[in-house]
Amino acid sequence: MQNELMIALHMAREAGGILLEGHRLGVAPEVVEHKGAIDLVTPYDRRSEALVRARLAEHFPDDTVLAEEGGQTEGQGPEGAARRVWCVDPLDGTTNFAHGLPFFCVSIALLIDGEAAVGVVHAPALDWTFSCVAGEAPRFNGSPLPRLAARDDLGSSLLMFGCGYDRTTRPERYLAMIATFMTRTQGLRRTGSAALDCCICSRGQVDGYMEVNLHPWDLAAGVLIARGAGAVATDVDGGPFDPFTGRLLLGRPGVHGRMLEVIRENDVFLHEKDGSYGR
Ligand code: IPD
Ligand code: CA
Ligand code: CA
Repeated sequence: MQNELMIALHMAREAGGILLEGHRLGVAPEVVEHKGAIDLVTPYDRRSEALVRARLAEHFPDDTVLAEEGGQTEGQGPEGAARRVWCVDPLDGTTNFAHGLPFFCVSIALLIDGEAAVGVVHAPALDWTFSCVAGEAPRFNGSPLPRLAARDDLGSSLLMFGCGYDRTTRPERYLAMIATFMTRTQGLRRTGSAALDCCICSRGQVDGYMEVNLHPWDLAAGVLIARGAGAVATDVDGGPFDPFTGRLLLGRPGVHGRMLEVIRENDVFLHEKDGSYGR
């Protein structure tokens, strides 16, 4: 997978260069389109995705590409071969980007038969690059990340959360999540980029992260990186993590279990299931 990793890193940096240009120039409100009431897309999302798609077509024409703006494009691979799908968010954190905040990134993962094999998350305005090959230690800006130590206490833990774009029409579950965890933890944070949230967990800068109603391109790379550092990832109900459900409970060992107990005790999320993307 070293070849795939090198190419993914290269593509992420090239696409990151496009995003950095937009960040420095500023994004004029008139070029921002609305996919939904609060779900934005900019010309930079599209340019970044076009670049990644072009590079993937050049290097891996047999592989399928699933990217946020253009959807799924089947590769030319022979039937019966291990199904290789590149899962791409060309700009994760578009709302931040449109407002000039530096918390945004490019997220690229290669899934083989549904399992993440390679993941890269590159945040050009922060100069943060995370990468991982399954079975190996993840890297941050080229150096291996240390293993996350266990912690048992939620009261001394800093957690992150996110809210999907259904938060204006179905706010209840997000409000329940915030109310439940804000009284039991040292603090709750939100960056506005799911891929970065996972990567921040991989460095141990926060102890856990939870979100629902996401998409595989938000999660596939970041979860591989965080798991590589020793974080525990499941569905928010404690079941197996599947990026296509868009539901994630992530935490350092110990903290993940404490978060799950609180979710179960308070019925946060449990009675609400979202459809799985593309299934
Ligand atoms: C969004 C971000 C955000 C999360 C949203 C995602 P986008 O992705 O990851 O943190 O809360 O629900 O959809 O739209 O910026 O690519
Ligand atoms: Ca995203
Ligand atoms: Ca996006």
